[in-house]
Amino acid sequence: MKIIHISDIHLTVPGEPMGGLNPHARFAAALDHVALHHADAARVIITGDLAHWGESAAYQALSDALALRALPVRLLIGNHDDRATFLRVFPDHPVDAQGYVNHAETVNGTRLVYLDTVGTRTHAGNFGPDRLSWLESELTAHSRLRLFMHHNPMTLGLPAEDRIALIPEHRPAFHALLKRYADRIEHLHFGHVHAPISGQFHGIPFNSVPSTGNQSLPDLQETVWLKGAPMAPAYHVILVQSGQTTIHQIPFAWDGPVAKSGTGWEDWAKPSAAE
Ligand SMILES: [Fe+2]
Ligand SMILES: [Fe+2]
Repeated sequence: MKIIHISDIHLTVPGEPMGGLNPHARFAAALDHVALHHADAARVIITGDLAHWGESAAYQALSDALALRALPVRLLIGNHDDRATFLRVFPDHPVDAQGYVNHAETVNGTRLVYLDTVGTRTHAGNFGPDRLSWLESELTAHSRLRLFMHHNPMTLGLPAEDRIALIPEHRPAFHALLKRYADRIEHLHFGHVHAPISGQFHGIPFNSVPSTGNQSLPDLQETVWLKGAPMAPAYHVILVQSGQTTIHQIPFAWDGPVAKSGTGWEDWAKPSAAE
C-alpha cells in the first residue's frame, strides 16, 4: 500500500501570500506531482493547517483544487484551521459523535485513524477525555492501526516548538493509551513542525513531514522563537508492505539539474564520476 503524506499547506484567500510565497501554487505543484508519479496511491493524507487563517475562501480554494484532480484525499485540521468554517465548506466531511473531525477507515487491512487535535484559540494540541474515548474505541476494535494527527503528541527536544505540542495536561492519558495499545499501532504520522523528524515512542515509530510552504529550522536551544526559512518543500511517500514501512521524502519543487549515474563499480570510476 502506498500512502502520500502532505502537511501544512496553509492556504490563504487566493491572492494573499503566506510567508512570502504563494501557498496555492505550492499545493497545486505538490498535487500535480503526486498525480503524475503516484497515481497508484491508496490515500493522499493532508495532516492539517489546511488554511493559514481559517477563512471560508481558503477552504473553498482547497475544495476547488481537490475537485480538479481525482486523488483519494483525506483531510485533517490543525491549529491554523477553523473547525466550524472548514465544516461549512466541507459539509459532508465525517465527524465523530461530538462534532470533532475525528474519523477512520480500513484500507487494505490497516485501520487509518485521522485525529482532530485542535483546541480553541491555541496553537498547542488538545486531545482530552472527550476525544480519547473515541480513539480508544478505535484501538480496541482493530488490531493494525496507523495514526495520523496534526500535532506531535510528545515533546521533540525543541524547547520553543515543544510549547505548542499536545498540551501537558492532555499528555499523560494520551501517552498511556498509546503505550497500552503500542503493539497494535504500526506508526504515528504528524505534521505541525514543518520539518522531517523521526523517532520511536515506547515502541511506536513516528514521523513528521515538511510543509509544502516554509520550513522550520530545528533549534535545540531556543526556548521562545519558532524559526523558519524558505527551504525546499516536500511531501512523503509511505510504502507499507509485508510488515515493513518505508518513507521517502520527495522534493517536488526541485527544478534544477539532475545527475544520472549507473550502479556498476566502473560507473563511479575516476574520471567519469568527477565530471
Ligand atoms: Fe503549520
Ligand atoms: Fe500547526
